[in-house]
Amino acid sequence: MRRRYWFLRIRRQLFGCLLLSLLILSLLLGICITYSASAGSSAAQRTTNLHRYPINCSAIYDMDPVEVGKSLWIRRQRVVEEVSDEALAELTSDCSSFLKIRGYENVCFSEEEQLFPLAYSLVVHKSAWMVERLIRALYSPTHVFCIHYDLKSPLQFISAMKGLARCLPNVFISSQLENVVYASFSRLKADLNCLSDLLRSDVQWKYVINLCGQDFPLRSNMELVSELKNLNGANMLETSRPSEAKKERFTFHHQLKDSVLQKTDQVKTEPPHGIQIFIGNAYFVLSHQLVLHMNSSEVVRDLLSWSEDTYSPDEHFWATLVRLPGVPGEVPVSQPDITDLMSRTRLVKWEYLEEYLYPPCSGQHVRSVCIFGAAELRWLLNYGHLFANKFDLSVDPVVVQCLEEKLQERQRLFESVALHLICPKTLKDQ
Ligand SMILES: *[C@@H]1O[C@H](CO)[C@@H](O)[C@H](O)[C@H]1NC(C)=O
Ligand SMILES: *[C@@H]1O[C@H](CO)[C@@H](O)[C@H](O)[C@H]1NC(C)=O
Repeated sequence: MRRRYWFLRIRRQLFGCLLLSLLILSLLLGICITYSASAGSSAAQRTTNLHRYPINCSAIYDMDPVEVGKSLWIRRQRVVEEVSDEALAELTSDCSSFLKIRGYENVCFSEEEQLFPLAYSLVVHKSAWMVERLIRALYSPTHVFCIHYDLKSPLQFISAMKGLARCLPNVFISSQLENVVYASFSRLKADLNCLSDLLRSDVQWKYVINLCGQDFPLRSNMELVSELKNLNGANMLETSRPSEAKKERFTFHHQLKDSVLQKTDQVKTEPPHGIQIFIGNAYFVLSHQLVLHMNSSEVVRDLLSWSEDTYSPDEHFWATLVRLPGVPGEVPVSQPDITDLMSRTRLVKWEYLEEYLYPPCSGQHVRSVCIFGAAELRWLLNYGHLFANKFDLSVDPVVVQCLEEKLQERQRLFESVALHLICPKTLKDQ
């Protein structure tokens, strides 16, 4: 009897809580609406409020139902003006205001970061703001960023990318641009073009990381530097033995037909130098030594040219490269598979593994891959990976905003205890 009474009371309390939450939610929504109505009253105010939604990211992180509910409401609003490529092209036409508005002027760095510069290869084709926010999240004046944009990209997007390269001294456009065709060699070539430009850069970077426009970091800059330092010259990427189905991708000759890569019946020759092919994803964290070695190795050159007519060569090239005997940071052929969940380079949620390996997607799926939503913030930050894929501002802008805030919080925390903090006052300004 007592138990039943107690149970009923809990239930009543829960119901009360729910009602209260709903009440607060509707109140907040009211505030939101008035907020968005009052914001955007002038152009200046709009740029200052750029990409900021009135949301409490700590509460999102705590999975507070009211705040998560609010993020769902925000998701349904489409603020087209803010996310247009044209707006970024326009903003970067005046570098000093771009640097000021986007907070590049006061990016500090520690001695540790200065002594361990990183390089990034960004292969992108759309969503200029997402590219800018990715760079902003990783930005340190000590790093170097190469942007490869697809030759097919919209003009406004290209103009925004050129704007970024013009305003930020350590961001440049790849000297050779490709027309990137899905699953073809051109995707791999885009990264290779950036890598060879990065080798010529004055920045003595220690590691290079490749990114696409739908990636976002899960670690602050200081944390990335310290994690990569701990690699001690090793590389970080997926490298596994291929399934029989995957082997078809490189045992048959593929060719482009109407801009689509198609398999033929023609069997390819064996890989050169008796190389054993491994597979992985397109993402890597590679040491400077390995990239230098790549540039001069005949074996690597032969592997590359053999890969030209394979399907999605980026998914076997890097994975095979680190297994080549004698390369810097070699993963011996005899060593077991390193899966994508083990390698920590990129956290990707596959639809068919949801609820089996991880909680379901709170955003949206595209080709079986999850585009993350705000309810995954905590899971993303705590999983242990360095970057995640995919994010899309038109699916959920709140998760990106909250990642930015959380990472900035962490960066500040590290800065507050850094011994030598360098805060440059001026950047290139044209
Ligand atoms: C945001 O949420 C956290 C935890 O849920 C709470 O402690 C904090 O007071 C909130 N901040 C604001 C400004 O409402
Ligand atoms: C890369 O290789 C090319 C040709 O093999 C060579 O000319 C160039 O100097 C190399 N780059 C570096 C940074 O070693």
